[in-house]
Amino acid sequence: MPALLVTGGAGYVGSHTVMAMLEQPDFEYEIVVVDNLSNAYRAEGDKKPVALLRIEEMTGKTIQFYEVDIRDKQGLNEVFGKHDVHCVVHFAALKAVGESVEKPLEYCQANITGTCTLFEVMRDHRVYNLIYSSSCTVYGEPERLPLDEEHPTGRGISSPYGRTKYFCEEIMKDLCASDPKWKIISLRYFNPVGAHPSGRIGEDPNGIPNNLMPFIAQVAVGRLPELKVFGTDYPTIDGTGVRDYIHVVDLADGHVKALQLFHRNEFSGFCPINLGTGTGYSVYQVVAAFEAASGRRVAAARAPRRAGDLAANWAAPAAAARLLAWRAARSLRDMCADAWRWQSANPDGYRG
Ligand code: UD1
Repeated sequence: MPALLVTGGAGYVGSHTVMAMLEQPDFEYEIVVVDNLSNAYRAEGDKKPVALLRIEEMTGKTIQFYEVDIRDKQGLNEVFGKHDVHCVVHFAALKAVGESVEKPLEYCQANITGTCTLFEVMRDHRVYNLIYSSSCTVYGEPERLPLDEEHPTGRGISSPYGRTKYFCEEIMKDLCASDPKWKIISLRYFNPVGAHPSGRIGEDPNGIPNNLMPFIAQVAVGRLPELKVFGTDYPTIDGTGVRDYIHVVDLADGHVKALQLFHRNEFSGFCPINLGTGTGYSVYQVVAAFEAASGRRVAAARAPRRAGDLAANWAAPAAAARLLAWRAARSLRDMCADAWRWQSANPDGYRG
């Protein structure tokens, strides 16, 4: 049976993508997850992380799991030796923006060295199909909105984390130029939020969340006292930052569609595609939507702007519609309702 190798498949976007793949009735791959568990939880005595066990339980399907770090060439070689890998979906990375400022070398190691090691092993095993987990952060400070894929990348990126995503894209362009066998779809995510509607898998950040939606969810559930609204003087609808929030299940479906693109043989080389809704919402709009969906009050206090933040960004999603026949289907209300279902059923995440 052909295999789909998913690096970082125990993480937030990775686990939802594994779920979306296995929910396809005619899915013809075995799923092989490689994860070093740096941001995923496995209970003592278990062989697999909780997120994957829950997916197996919901789908009745088996996931192959290897605790391997993508910098471990030998470990990766063994996994590629055991399975007939046809395509790799590469999520494994560090993603905390603030931490990347403190630890730039760790971010280069994990995100760039790890990615290059994975590519070497892919090449050695003649696997050339890749879906890469990129970010709208590669566009840096927007020159125009909405952001389409022709917008320049690499200028004015505000964090080492963001630069690792940009550098990896440049490396992938060079790879594609070096050998036409490579086919790489780089999915540039806007702001993934929400959870699977089952409430069984969701985002489980380590420590205090950096990102807006998990922070709000933890205020609503009583784990944190109040949200600090970073900047209320931006030139936006109500002064707070505007982002293109996208439901993680829509995002996961984008990966399912990207995998189908390899079968259709309609592209070659490096293909960047935005995954966003095309609509931006402010921090206050998200807070209001979350309060409505949860029935809880979310205390919010004004705070100074956070270093490196943009006023606003949102996607031009036309390329995804054209190339993948994909469009985000879920509303901000759905994102909040599903985030709340996950948070209220699992107040302590997977450890609960
Ligand atoms: C951030 C990263 C981005 C990364 C993404 C996913 C930056 C500049 N960008 O996106 O590269 O891909 O996370 O990890 O850090 N906000 C508050 N209070 C909070 C948290 C957030 O007001 O406690 C506001 C922010 O100022 C922003 C919005 O909420 O306006 C969204 O923030 P966040 O969820 O952290 O995402 P980004 O900053 O857009």
